[in-house]
Amino acid sequence: MSASTKPVKRVTTHILQAMKERGEKISMLTAYDFSMAGILDAAGIDVLLVGDSASNVMAGHETTLPITLDQMIYHASSVVRAVKRALVVVDLPFGSYQGNSKEALASTIRIMKESGAHAVKIEGGKEIEESVRRIISAGVPVMGHLGLTPQSIYKFGTYTVRAKEEAEARKLKEDALLLQELGCFAIVLEKIPAALGKEVSEMLHIPTIGIGAGPDVDGQVLVTHDMLGITKNFHPRFLRRYLELYDAIKEATEHYIKDVKEGDFPNEQEQY
Ligand code: KIV
Repeated sequence: MSASTKPVKRVTTHILQAMKERGEKISMLTAYDFSMAGILDAAGIDVLLVGDSASNVMAGHETTLPITLDQMIYHASSVVRAVKRALVVVDLPFGSYQGNSKEALASTIRIMKESGAHAVKIEGGKEIEESVRRIISAGVPVMGHLGLTPQSIYKFGTYTVRAKEEAEARKLKEDALLLQELGCFAIVLEKIPAALGKEVSEMLHIPTIGIGAGPDVDGQVLVTHDMLGITKNFHPRFLRRYLELYDAIKEATEHYIKDVKEGDFPNEQEQY
């Protein structure tokens, strides 16, 4: 069998668990569309998150609150069509699960049936216990999300580091243990002190995926548009930019405009 026809081994929640157990770090990035998801998957990313950050980077909203369930399903189905290997996890958007656990399950079922994704992610701890229990008992894998939970931005008031104080750190640890006990397969820890990220990761047997939670978690996630430098004016300390695509795309566009205006494009080889 040639390398190109070799079947791809899909990443599952069981594989992520085994990665934690052997100390292999998990890589995760966001994806919202077919083209980008295909590139990230071909590069070998373990998990693709169809994050509600699509509300910010794709739709230009200030917060993640406006994105709808229908819009999340549209993004998720585009990502799923591109992916051969990665586990695809979809955020339950604001307003699609807070009402009650039946609403949470109904939203999850729509995501799973209409997009073909493999798991959902949900923000919160104790307050969403019933929803997590109901979704998992329906057979859908759930990823938790603790620390800075952007859907609660108006409660927090700012995007600064969470759980620096003892009481909030204690609640976060209790929530992490609860989510694990309920059967979550992994937990995102967003913007918390590195020492707390380490403590929670050592305390849990399921994987933790950090974003601004230091190096001693079981995996890392970034918003792809931030990592590639497509977003311009966002410089949190935790972000490493691997490209400056905003500048590269702008320069290429300026070059194209110049070629069109000067009649240089198309040339003889670029016409019929
Ligand atoms: O929506 C998102 O992109 C996220 C990540 C920041 C973890 O939830």
